[in-house]
Amino acid sequence: MRLPIRLNPTAVPHALRRLLAPVSASGDPSRLTFLADQYKRVPPEEQAAIAAEYSMCISALKFGKTFKTTAAARLDRSAAAFESHLVGNDHVVVDLGASDGSTSVDLFERIRPHVQRFIAADLNDSILICSHRNGLAFFSPAGQPIVEVTPRLLWYADVAGANPIYRGLVSRRVVRFPCSGEQTRIRLLNPRFLDLTARHPNVAFLRHDMFEPLPVTATAVRVSNLLNLSYFSAAEIERALGSICANLAESGLLLISRDTGTEEHGTLFRRSGGRLVILETIGAGSEVEPIASSLRL
Ligand SMILES: C[S@@+](CC[C@H](N)C(=O)[O-])C[C@H]1O[C@@H](n2cnc3c(N)ncnc32)[C@H](O)[C@@H]1O
Repeated sequence: MRLPIRLNPTAVPHALRRLLAPVSASGDPSRLTFLADQYKRVPPEEQAAIAAEYSMCISALKFGKTFKTTAAARLDRSAAAFESHLVGNDHVVVDLGASDGSTSVDLFERIRPHVQRFIAADLNDSILICSHRNGLAFFSPAGQPIVEVTPRLLWYADVAGANPIYRGLVSRRVVRFPCSGEQTRIRLLNPRFLDLTARHPNVAFLRHDMFEPLPVTATAVRVSNLLNLSYFSAAEIERALGSICANLAESGLLLISRDTGTEEHGTLFRRSGGRLVILETIGAGSEVEPIASSLRL
């Protein structure tokens, strides 16, 4: 991000807000809680719109290098690729870097007959919110500043790669991110995902860092919009892939993809004989395909 400041879309006219999509943030501290509550109260045909708004709010959050950007139905091509290669009904599936779980619901619904256990995993699963007289400050559970929402602007704490003038401006401001008032902790799971876990005891969320080995032996793992060279160096991606594959079963599937806003590009691999072998390419393939293909497991 060259500019660590963005207009707060809730403060700008609707047409401009649409231009800024998917960036959005709520100016109301209880908006996420409100949406989660509303989801349970409205008829089923109105739930999708509420779940979509929840994901839109979540998508404005940036923890360190990565945004939590997500939306239902954005990863349909990788879900279809998984579906065509899964055989049997005893798969342990992990959707890693799942954000609020919206795309995990889509994937589970598509491959349900093949699933014994389904885990949506993400490192950043909750957030602390503090209100102050000019807006809201968001912090990670570890207390690191993430974003300050003021009536007109979103001030991101991460300034890496930013224009030096703005970097100085934001850095000075971030040091003063106020958090004197009461803190509210909010779990960042979409009500649609929580609804799925209530109906299917074999579906769960797990807080997990992709640089650590998976806590289960998985037979299928999807990592979408996370193993990107704009987020991580090649060495970091290699390290993350090593950790993921440490608990990927022999013959297990690994799907890495990235969504450009209009299209999904990715590669589906099978673990075979100490390597990741390409099974299928989606669109132009994953940009980290050469790194994954050269791994020796
Ligand atoms: C851009 S979102 C992608 C969400 C979803 N997979 C999708 O494509 O819609 C990236 C997600 O990766 C998560 N993430 C970042 N670093 C991570 C790490 N080290 N381990 C696990 N998840 C991580 C972020 O919290 C964020 O939710």
